[in-house]
Amino acid sequence: MTNNNPIGLFDSGIGGTSIWAAIHNLLPNEDTIYLADSKNAPYGEKSKQEILELSCKNTEFLLNQNCKIIVVACNTATTNAIKELRSKYDVPFIGIEPAIKPAATNSKTQKIGILATKGTLNSELFHKNVEKFQDVEIIEQIGFGLVELIESGKINSLEMKDLLKQYLSPMIKANIDYLVLGCSHYPYLIPQIKKIIPSKIHIIDSGQAVAKQTKNILLEKIGLNDASNKNSHTFYTNTNPKVLSEILKNKYHIDFKDF
Ligand code: DGL
Repeated sequence: MTNNNPIGLFDSGIGGTSIWAAIHNLLPNEDTIYLADSKNAPYGEKSKQEILELSCKNTEFLLNQNCKIIVVACNTATTNAIKELRSKYDVPFIGIEPAIKPAATNSKTQKIGILATKGTLNSELFHKNVEKFQDVEIIEQIGFGLVELIESGKINSLEMKDLLKQYLSPMIKANIDYLVLGCSHYPYLIPQIKKIIPSKIHIIDSGQAVAKQTKNILLEKIGLNDASNKNSHTFYTNTNPKVLSEILKNKYHIDFKDF
């Protein structure tokens, strides 16, 4: 089964490029269209209804470009809107959720930490997921301000360092051995986080799992791209493209679109 239409991805901003990179790595022949809704970031501070409306707008933009599958490269949008998206649109959706399962099942200290947005940690889907792991103590922390700093290109700033120390210290004191990054922006903070936490704490994000799931669904239901020509990757943003361009190492052209 083949299908040469692109994979569509969206996020509240540049963070979902961490998921895009994992997908591109696993599926190098696929065309992709990435939508960074940075104008509306952070989604994590918005209501469920607002997140749903933005997710519908993003989905329709990608469907108008003939995407064969939509990857919701945002934990906040997934945990608040994926159920509604799946019932409203006739296209497969891949979502991203905090990887609690591998952390909880592998933890030796029976204590894990999770850093995510307010929207994700307060969602019904997240609560349902957490309830499955009663034997493990889960230390939740909202990453207030982190997405804003990443979106403004301040990944390596002193402000970032201070916020991370503040958020991670209670987890270190509690003796966690797994730290779950429950926001697609946060993998870009791993070098900073590693300077703060002891090396025995494992850091987990969901990029690889989402990429594998995307591949499986394409194989089973949609079809892979069999074109032999050079594949194309289109990136759209509705703000200044500078930070997105930098995170992509200036390797790809970025289109500004006021969506
Ligand atoms: N990158 C998003 C996530 O995975 C959302 C960040 C935000 O806009 O608050 O949760």
